Amino acid sequence: MFFQYKHQHGKRDRFLNMGKLVPLMFIATIFGLFLLYSPNPFTIISKQGLDSVPEKQQPPKQGLDSFQIQPPAPMQGPADHHHHHNLKPQKKKDCDLFKGHWVQEPRGPFYTNSSCTTIPESKNCFKNGRKDMDFLNWRWKPDECHLPRFDARSFLQIVQGKKMAFIGDSVARNHMESLRCLLSQEEIPNDVYKDSEDRFRTLYFPRHDFTLMVLWSKFLIVGEERMINGTGSSFFDLQIDKVEDEWAKYLPDIDYAIISAGHWFFRVLYLHEGENQVGCVYCHEPNVTDLNIDFALRMAVRATLKHINGCKNCSTRLMTLLRTFAPAHFENGFWNTGGYCNRTTPFKETEVDLEKFEWQLRNVQVEEFERAREAGEKQGKRFGLVDVTRAMLMRPDGHPGEHWGNTWKGGYNDCVHWCMPGPVDTWSELFLAALRKEAEAGLSS
Ligand SMILES: *[C@@H]1O[C@H](CO)[C@@H](O)[C@H](O)[C@H]1NC(C)=O
Ligand SMILES: *[C@@H]1O[C@H](CO)[C@@H](O)[C@H](O)[C@H]1NC(C)=O
Ligand SMILES: *[C@@H]1O[C@H](CO)[C@@H](O)[C@H](O)[C@H]1NC(C)=O
Ligand SMILES: *[C@@H]1O[C@H](CO)[C@@H](O)[C@H](O)[C@H]1NC(C)=O
Ligand SMILES: *[C@@H]1O[C@H](CO)[C@@H](O)[C@H](O)[C@H]1NC(C)=O
Repeated sequence: MFFQYKHQHGKRDRFLNMGKLVPLMFIATIFGLFLLYSPNPFTIISKQGLDSVPEKQQPPKQGLDSFQIQPPAPMQGPADHHHHHNLKPQKKKDCDLFKGHWVQEPRGPFYTNSSCTTIPESKNCFKNGRKDMDFLNWRWKPDECHLPRFDARSFLQIVQGKKMAFIGDSVARNHMESLRCLLSQEEIPNDVYKDSEDRFRTLYFPRHDFTLMVLWSKFLIVGEERMINGTGSSFFDLQIDKVEDEWAKYLPDIDYAIISAGHWFFRVLYLHEGENQVGCVYCHEPNVTDLNIDFALRMAVRATLKHINGCKNCSTRLMTLLRTFAPAHFENGFWNTGGYCNRTTPFKETEVDLEKFEWQLRNVQVEEFERAREAGEKQGKRFGLVDVTRAMLMRPDGHPGEHWGNTWKGGYNDCVHWCMPGPVDTWSELFLAALRKEAEAGLSS
């Protein structure tokens, strides 16, 4: 994420570089900085056709073995008696947990900045001066069913004896930090490992023999920043057919991999497949094929899931979850041009625009996920979807905004990450629902 940039390279150099970059952009100059540094240019919507994924909803099973829901036929033939022997409980209709709206929740948040002592400074919005608290009193309500409230005990029971890794950028870390707070209400984990930049981290819950990791990866696939005169250029060379080994090498050890990506793709990217450059995103060079962000993200998710499906020494118990793109909410500007996010209530369902690029990115992710699931399930791999995009499009009020303890160049708002506590905690409710669903499927098969 852009906030990490300052640690990597001198920010002065980066701003000096801009003069050279901007003319390459087809977008107006004001977007130049934004494209390179910000994860959320709310302009650029790719034109590549991306029809939304049809919601997979099985009609309730109406076969012979569900005859108990039908009124008894007045004239049953002898054959009908046999069916009484394989009377099964009626299959529950799958509810789409990801389509719904936010409703008032009088019970409030799961933790506070005193009951969870590990909230990172930059997500501790109240400590950093946020005053409004109404944004804590909402719960996600799927249209057709109820999403159970997070239950740390059930979560820890399911993952007991297991290893789980969040793989992705700083938003993945945000999710992991939120889960840590949620679980801490039941058991406080030990810090086992943390690198100097907080990119790789391992926690251990001794009572449940549960290991929780975060593995840093900006793109999931191999991505090297081009250096120009010894300074990072903000241009990246991506290898669309090769996952980053820094996370992939841990895979054989992991029982639950929760992958996510997206925010780093909004910059100049050169895409390579093997030895060949297949094109670029935003580079606008005469002899390089112009591709869009959707394509780059699609390739990254595809390569990742292909790697997972092909992983020979991975655990047969490995469950792969995809957490879909989490939108940012800058208004009236971008992160570096005074954009802010100071709303205090969620949007209604009708206020959300599903034509936006965030929804397209989500569709790309879900399409690739469904494709890989189909292939992987044949080999006994397990999958789960944590589709937060629609819910989070409705939460412009969930970001730190100016309340993230910003000391960098003063005044920038963080409308990308999420306050803790806050709506990011809902991701773990959807996550737990996916784990439960998988556990139930495992029991009945
Ligand atoms: C918790 O938030 C309050 C404001 O609600 C703030 O005054 C306090 O410093 C915070 N405490 C910690 C430990 O972060
Ligand atoms: C690298 O630095 C040299 C000397 O300062 C300069 O002439 C050259 O244009 C720079 N190259 C790029 C690509 O910025
Ligand atoms: C574009 O093509 C020209 C002529 O074939 C070549 O000289 C140049 O290096 C190419 N540019 C890039 C960026 O590949
Ligand atoms: C898994 O397989 C890869 C490639 O075959 C190998 O490099 C790696 O050491 C193996 N890991 C384990 C834990 O066996
Ligand atoms: C949000 O911030 C903008 C710019 O600072 C300000 O004009 C507006 O009044 C603020 N809105 C609220 C609800 O605080």
